[in-house]
Amino acid sequence: FRRIEDAPSGQTALVRVDFNVPMADGRVSDDTRLRAALPTIQALTAKGCKVALLAHFDRPKGKRVPEMSLAPLAEPLAKLLRAQVAFADDCVGDAAKAAISALPAGSAILLENTRFHAGEETNDPELAKQIAALGDFYVNDAFSAAHRAHASTEGIARVLPAYAGKQMERELDALEAALGSPKRPVLGIVGGAKVSTKLELLRNLIAKLDKLAIGGGMANTFLYAQGVEIGGSLAEKDMADTAREIMAAAKGKCELLLPVDVVVAKEVKPHAEARMCGLDEIQADEKILDAGEKTVRHLREAMKHSHTLIWNGPLGVFEVPPFDQATVIAAQVAAELAKDGKLIAVAGGGDTVAALNHAGVAADFTFVSTAGGAFLEWMEGKPLPGVEALKR
Ligand code: 3PG
Repeated sequence: FRRIEDAPSGQTALVRVDFNVPMADGRVSDDTRLRAALPTIQALTAKGCKVALLAHFDRPKGKRVPEMSLAPLAEPLAKLLRAQVAFADDCVGDAAKAAISALPAGSAILLENTRFHAGEETNDPELAKQIAALGDFYVNDAFSAAHRAHASTEGIARVLPAYAGKQMERELDALEAALGSPKRPVLGIVGGAKVSTKLELLRNLIAKLDKLAIGGGMANTFLYAQGVEIGGSLAEKDMADTAREIMAAAKGKCELLLPVDVVVAKEVKPHAEARMCGLDEIQADEKILDAGEKTVRHLREAMKHSHTLIWNGPLGVFEVPPFDQATVIAAQVAAELAKDGKLIAVAGGGDTVAALNHAGVAADFTFVSTAGGAFLEWMEGKPLPGVEALKR
């Protein structure tokens, strides 16, 4: 990669960031992604560069949707930067050009949602050229959008000299350190609702990991495939053959850890009447909503005997207490071990980060990726178009 330390001074940088942040009532409710962009913006402004920020927000599908404007982000970003941040209501064209010309050297401007142009998602070379016309060089700092081959993440790198931003480097380095040539034994925890959405991930992980714990709704499918009576639990019964195939492929290579006990209830609602039971005690009208204590103890042992942990997906319905317990306790164990330097603990994915924040331990993990989809695709071993473009 070309790194921003090697980028020219005093020029205009077009910097792709990921400002696809959660909003509530028109305000940013979690500014992690804004904060993640600060080191790159500051490094460039310190070089006397003008920084024009390119970003998408939500999925406006090529139309100008006022509720999906990036305008409300300029002020919180300015506060974090302790500097003014201008705003231009388009990411191409004369008005944007004039706004950038009017900027003092060493300052930043946020350009309107790139996805207001249909050519963004189709990676239209014409749009890439029009965006590129606003600056001298390109920086991609949006690892979490690097799985998209869009005009502002991929096409533009074909037009301008391209550099990797600091957050991009940080994410790639941390993931590479954890899974590229990891300190073994490596344990994975994969949870979440469905096997079907994480099939590639599971296949790739059993080839790379020493142990893989499967939790959440997808564990039900594996239990079902083993002949466990899972009652009214969420499961993809048509994936049973696939689950058996994964278990067979893992044999002798990667030890699979499935729940050995579970928390069940008749309905998924806060503080519903729940009980912990063995796998042979699930009633027809009960649903598995969390892993049980014995399963969490197994996970704790597995973490203690591993050097690296890579975690994606909660172990139960963590949004609805008391079904958050297995996830919370397992997260606390991992954080403790990471804090003591005994475990390299890496996590990613939107739900996972929310779960770690809920458990109050995200800061103690070795690394928490800002990415959702991109983190998964990286773990699946797929090339990320935004990263490939920088390598080229
Ligand atoms: C994300 O939030 O994971 C990225 O910003 C990508 O967003 P997308 O899934 O709408 O492409």
